[in-house]
Amino acid sequence: MSEFTATPASDEALTRACSILKDGGLVAFPTETVYGLGADATNSNAVAGIFKAKGRPDYNPLICHVPDLAAAEKLGIFDDKARKYAAAFWPGALTLVVKKQPDCPVASEVSAGLETIAIRVPDHRLAQSLLRMVQRPLAAPSANRSGAVSPTKAEHVIESLGQKVNLVLDGGACEVGLESTVLAVDDSPAVLLRPGGITLSMLRDIDPGIQVAKAEQPKLLKSPGMLESHYAPGLPVRMDIDTPSPDEAWLAFGPDAKTDGVKAINLSPSGNLEEAASNLFSYLREMDRSEFSAIAVAPIPEEGIGRAINDRLKRASAPGSTPLTG
Ligand code: TXA
Ligand code: MG
Repeated sequence: MSEFTATPASDEALTRACSILKDGGLVAFPTETVYGLGADATNSNAVAGIFKAKGRPDYNPLICHVPDLAAAEKLGIFDDKARKYAAAFWPGALTLVVKKQPDCPVASEVSAGLETIAIRVPDHRLAQSLLRMVQRPLAAPSANRSGAVSPTKAEHVIESLGQKVNLVLDGGACEVGLESTVLAVDDSPAVLLRPGGITLSMLRDIDPGIQVAKAEQPKLLKSPGMLESHYAPGLPVRMDIDTPSPDEAWLAFGPDAKTDGVKAINLSPSGNLEEAASNLFSYLREMDRSEFSAIAVAPIPEEGIGRAINDRLKRASAPGSTPLTG
């Protein structure tokens, strides 16, 4: 464990974070989904620092964070439909992939050479204050080593990246706990690239014609983060397990879970999927210990944010998933 520690949120900490970012440094900050590893998106060297710190392949593009739609429209082209999603869900856990503005000031490395750009307006007091203070878009992937579980607490960032980050702003635990929903609206119909806190049915209230990307679709090839096995702890993960074996750690779910005699934590004793989502990454980390042979996870209903939970669990349990140390 590194001796480097997170900095509690304060006006002074925000001022320091701003000057680090303006100087091309890296600041990890909380959002309502997960912690982001932020850099000035208009500075190529700063952006290169993100890829280096995470060990992220340079073909995997980053999300740009801005404080509002007006700032987003300076980076990307929003048609009426894109504006409708923004009006409905921003600030919030939705990332929109749109075509770049011809004079977009963001470094080309952010989009990994694509003609599109992924943009999000986070709904978190600290993230908003930071974005308004720094007055430039922040490129920010989840603040973990590439392929590992995303951080939902400042201490997870320290464990995963330690001194590779100039400052970690501590804003406590992230409320949503899963990465944002990613929706490509650069073409018609809109395509869901990554399920998340804004659910498919919420999106389909705006446009029932939204498609869900399938692994073989060319659209997804442009979103490599969605292809790889991802979000993996060190131990193997097994899904849909009602009865774990004695040497496994169990992530139970709901009021009927029988946890006697097994090493278990319940993702949500009341069976609430939002609560389960916000606990998932933190509990996966907690159970990722060598005394266990695997992490077994109870069946999670494939509805609402449960789809996003199952999506992350599928990646974590895919063969070849990168361990937490990778
Ligand atoms: O909740 C979140 O989205 C967090 C917080 C920090 O905002 N960020 C996050 O970033 O999860 P990251 O880099 O871990 O995931 C971004 C995903 C990747 O799978 C990437 O491939 C995809 O978005 N992406 C980024 N730009 C894209 C683009 N232009 N077209 C398609 N996919 C894109
Ligand atoms: Mg990530």
